[in-house]
Amino acid sequence: MSDRKHGLDALLEQVQSGGDVPAHVAIIMDGNGRWASERGLPRWMGHREGMKSVRRCVTGALDLGIRHVTLYAFSKENWSRPLEEVSALMRLLSEYVERERQALAEKGVRVRVIGDLSRLSKQALKAVESIQGTTEGGEELMLNLAISYGSRDEILQAARSLAMECVAGEISPADITEDRFASALYTSGSPDPDLLVRTSGEMRVSNFLLWQIAYSEIHVTPVLWPDFGESDLYEAVLDYQRRERRFGRVTLGA
Ligand code: IPE
Ligand code: IPE
Ligand code: MG
Repeated sequence: MSDRKHGLDALLEQVQSGGDVPAHVAIIMDGNGRWASERGLPRWMGHREGMKSVRRCVTGALDLGIRHVTLYAFSKENWSRPLEEVSALMRLLSEYVERERQALAEKGVRVRVIGDLSRLSKQALKAVESIQGTTEGGEELMLNLAISYGSRDEILQAARSLAMECVAGEISPADITEDRFASALYTSGSPDPDLLVRTSGEMRVSNFLLWQIAYSEIHVTPVLWPDFGESDLYEAVLDYQRRERRFGRVTLGA
């Protein structure tokens, strides 16, 4: 067994005996551009390398028994990047789908794409339908891929759809509880993330899951996304296991 594999197994064991594994991990996959610049490469090559990290991250999540993973792949604000970069990202989406969908289905991963899909090209939409269709029977891991995603936007569309139900007389404003509101969000069916990870050291949320992360633990790592691997996911979960989640209460005996 290689040293790396040995180290990974030891870390996995440490996590498994370390306490609860989060049910839902959300990740802001950041730092692809910097990874490429550091090597004198164009930014899109950083995004291409980042796809390999997605694979490692899914493998790590399956090995740990994490049931929901939400990956921030492309924000609504990212539409303002140079056209070549946006086009490259959309091409990579199709490439990812072609390359991974069968393997994901075999591993029991169900992919759901969340975001404002109205801006996607025909080809990108086809990729979305293809990966969702191929993987719809997956029961091990729900993989939410946030594409053309903005959290304020998501909250607004939830508010609008509930307002429409009120106007139609199907519900009354008093029926709009936290649970009902959460069900109107794109992430409906996934519990709130227990752990939010951001790579590349940036200390901000960048319009990601604003409602859902109300009580998430936050782990920021300096690792750039293309360098992220199973061991970084395990480290993030170990960090999570060391936290004391209080949800506003006090600890008994403290
Ligand atoms: C994250 O990497 C991927 C996307 C936002 C699409 P970046 O492209 O933001 O990389 P940096 O932050 O410029 O290094
Ligand atoms: C957030 O990263 C969006 C994704 C990871 C897809 P950005 O690189 O776009 O965010 P900012 O600009 O640093 O806030
Ligand atoms: Mg960035």
